[in-house]
Formats: sequence, structure tokens, C-alpha cells
Amino acid sequence: MKIAFFSALPVEEPWYELASNHCITYIPQPLTLETAALAIGHRAVCASVKDDLSRPVLKILKKLHVSVIGMRCVGQDTVDSQAMAEFGITLLRLPGHSPYAVAEQAVALLLGLIRHLPEANSRVRTGNFSLDGLIGTDLHGKTVGVIGTGRIGSVFARIMLGFGCNVLAYDIRPDPRHIEAGIQYGILSDLLPQVDILSLHCPLTPLTDHLINSHTLSALKPTTVLINTARGRLVDTMAILDALDAGQLAGYAADVYEWERAYFHYDYTNKPITDELLNRLRNHPNVLLTAHQAFLTEEALRQTARNLLNQFTFYESQQTILFTKASLY
Ligand code: NAI
Repeated sequence: MKIAFFSALPVEEPWYELASNHCITYIPQPLTLETAALAIGHRAVCASVKDDLSRPVLKILKKLHVSVIGMRCVGQDTVDSQAMAEFGITLLRLPGHSPYAVAEQAVALLLGLIRHLPEANSRVRTGNFSLDGLIGTDLHGKTVGVIGTGRIGSVFARIMLGFGCNVLAYDIRPDPRHIEAGIQYGILSDLLPQVDILSLHCPLTPLTDHLINSHTLSALKPTTVLINTARGRLVDTMAILDALDAGQLAGYAADVYEWERAYFHYDYTNKPITDELLNRLRNHPNVLLTAHQAFLTEEALRQTARNLLNQFTFYESQQTILFTKASLY
């Protein structure tokens, strides 16, 4: 099957080539109203977190006879599922690539932030071996709040239990298996004032849009650190920065940013970055930021490529069977 692979990153291509029996066109641009026409001649589209799958874009794809879209990211917040169903376009979803990749990135961000690792490393590089201002905190014995205990959140929570933390969780669908492991569920308003670390692992939905805002931030202890590897819009970035400046929040480590689309995954070295909110975030001493790379491990890339391409193969074989049956009658 011919697949138009939007927002293609050079780091992804080898994994898809290795696993592929399809003909893939790698398109570096994200899928938008302006670029959708590049799908011409392809029956399938492969999309990621940066691609726009809103009704107007889907309408163009439908006109170009695209019949199937495979998402190579877990979050579905960019997809208009209703429009897809109306246009008869099939959506292939990932049941979740390596949850360890994202959970471990959350742990790395947490440790990097609370042990001042970026600052310590840059000092050593310049020959400054002093320890002033580098006092960190232990994780052992701390209370960790986890919002969303699905595939990624539950792995993160269990890693935190391994560090000797007390884990509190909030999820609209608590999972009894995690209670057995030692995770205690509660309501959000009870959890917020108790936690030393708060990590977000729920999807972006109308319910979770700006879930962390000036109101929820005011419920946290001023010593709390916040970790976000899920979606940028789960937090009100301006409110986070204001809380950090006011000493109401101790630190913020994130792999995502609410307006990341224009910048993340591109090289802006020596180019102006005009997003003032992003600049404030990048330059804040109590912020540790990576550019949406939590999925970027060999294991997660291999699993995603295999899984998605197998689904495209299965879809194609089903279509062939349907077509053969239809021509028999
Ligand atoms: P999942 O579907 O396995 O788990 C999500 C959990 O959140 C579920 O247990 C669900 O019940 C819960 N939830 C849903 N709405 C909620 C609400 N309003 N309040 C509290 N909990 C709620 O998803 P998975 O695989 O764990 O991924 C979680 C999120 O991580 C994804 O939606 C995606 O946005 C993000 N992600 C980020 C990546 C990165 O590279 N930074 C890579 C993969 C996922």
C-alpha cells in the first residue's frame, strides 16, 4: 500500500524501512490544510502528534481517496474521530508503544531537575567543580502524585514505589491491580496538597485541558515539583511560570509544551525564537525542558513501526477480501 508519512523525522525512517512491506513516501512537513494535497496518489496516511486531523484536512484527504490513517503516537487529541467516521476513513491506533520509554523519560526529567544535573554538567564542562547551589533532594520517602494510571502512568508509579516513595494516584478509571501494588487512589483535590512530586500521564481531553492552572497550582505545597511528559496543554504554561516566579512551585520538568508544534523537532540554532512564553520557559532556572522526545528509544521506535505497519498490512488484506467477496456476488 502507498503510505504518505507526514512529519517524517530522519530518526524514524530507518525503523519503518526495516519493518516495511509498503511503499512509504516520507514527507517532512506536518499534515495541514496547506500540505494535505501531498497525500495525492496514496491510499494511506501515517500521522503523528504534529499533524492536523481536523475535519477540513480530513475532507481533503477523503477527496484524494485516502481510506486509512495510522497514528504513530498514543495521544489522539488532534483527531476529529466523528469526521473520520462520517468520511468513512479508518483510523489505526497504537495500543501504546513502549510505556517504559515515556515513564523512564519522566524519571530522568525528575532526577535531572531535583539533582540539578544540567547545571552540574555544564559547570564541569567549563572547569567549575564547585558545589554551590547544587543541593538536591532524595526521592526516597517522598509522596508522588500520578494523574492517569494507564500504561505509562502505572509504569512511572511502580518505578516511584521502587525508589521508596509513597504513591497517590488520580484516575477517572482506577485500576484495582495498582492498588494491590501499593498505589493509593483518591480524588484530585485531596491528592494535590499532599504531594512532593506531581507527574501527569493522562490524555488531553476537554476535561484535562489546562488541568494544571493557577487554581490547582495554589493547592500544591510550594516545594512540589511538577513533571509533564503527556501533553503541553494539560498545563497553563503562563500559570506555571508565574507560580515558579512567586515561589509557589519549586520546579517544572517537561517533554511537551502547549505551543510546541512550530518549534519542537526542528533545529532553530542561530534562528530567532519569537515565542516569548517558550523563551521564558527555556530560560527559567527551575525548568528542565526536552522537545517531545520521550518516545525516542530504540525499543519504542521498533515496536511502533512494527505494530503500525502490521496494522496497515492487515487493513489492506481485509480490503482485498472484501473486494474479492463483493466481486463474487
Ligand atoms: P492510557 O490510555 O494507557 O492511560 C491514560 C490514563 O489516563 C487512563 O488510565 C485513563 O483512565 C486516564 N484518564 C483519562 N482521562 C482522565 C482524567 N480526566 N483525569 C484523570 N485520568 C484520566 O495512555 P498512555 O499510553 O499511558 O499515555 C498517556 C498519555 O501520554 C497519552 O495520552 C499521550 O498524551 C502521552 N504520551 C506522550 C508521549 C511523549 O513522547 N511525550 C508518548 C506517548 C504518550
